Amino acid sequence: MKIFMNTAVVIALTLSAPIFAENNTAANSDATKGKDIAAGVCAGCHNADGNSFIPLNPILAGQHAEYITKQLIDFKVTDTSPAKRNSPVMTSMVAALSLEDMKSLGTYYAQQKTEPSTSNIAQNEALLKAGKIIYHGGNLENGVPACASCHSPNGSGIPPHYPALAGQHAEYTTAQLKAFSNGNRANDGHVMQTIVTRMSSKEKRAVAEYISKLR
Ligand code: HEC
Ligand code: HEC
Repeated sequence: MKIFMNTAVVIALTLSAPIFAENNTAANSDATKGKDIAAGVCAGCHNADGNSFIPLNPILAGQHAEYITKQLIDFKVTDTSPAKRNSPVMTSMVAALSLEDMKSLGTYYAQQKTEPSTSNIAQNEALLKAGKIIYHGGNLENGVPACASCHSPNGSGIPPHYPALAGQHAEYTTAQLKAFSNGNRANDGHVMQTIVTRMSSKEKRAVAEYISKLR
């Protein structure tokens, strides 16, 4: 049985190796294009590799490609519809990008390594502890689900739909949670909006602080 399984694994690896190599080449050529746009247009706010130092500008490095591409599409105004995600800054940034550019940018940022936020957040142990409880267990009293169930226990998310959160600036995360609750961000199919309306401001801040420390 053991021998049989090993043989099966070897065959599977042999068969998939050329396909894998081909995919990688395609991804790398996309990534080169993404890198050029990132350096030319996006670096001033998100840094060249997507590790933004500015607390209200999200860290993009290491984020899933599909999620990044979706957000770029959502920021865009088209002939037939307004932007699905409201950010005047980002809407002007994506105006000239093609779908292919947006995919290349996703590929490029996904390949960069996340440098977790070092922004000067309150070193408040009680708040971090409260955030940890919400992240992993939710809050039964007001019906807040555990963030970990969709964004995974270590905050790496689950592609393609659930973004990585770990190491993100607490200021950016807090701003997004507020935007989901006041309707300023509504491109989530109501999933996040429903959750955050049940959370207090303090809970939002606590979980955002905890997320910035997650690895
Ligand atoms: C002038 C500053 C600025 C520039 C330049 C800029 N961005 Fe942004 N970006 C922002 C801000 C601010 C936000 C947060 C918007 C919000 O609050 O919803 C953002 C958000 C994003 C997001 C959403 C991330 C998430 O986690 O949901 C993506 C993706 C993104 N930017 C990609 C880009 C790309 C690609 C470029 C270059 C084509 C770019 N940005 C150029 C400021 C900028
Ligand atoms: C049922 C699944 C689910 C649960 C539970 C969940 N989320 Fe989300 N979350 C999502 C989805 C889906 C998105 C992406 C929305 C989009 O496509 O724009 C998201 C996006 C986010 C974002 C925006 C990320 C960015 O880079 O802009 C933040 C912040 C976030 N979630 C925090 C939380 C927190 C904190 C909790 C726990 C209190 C939580 N989520 C629980 C599904 C979930």
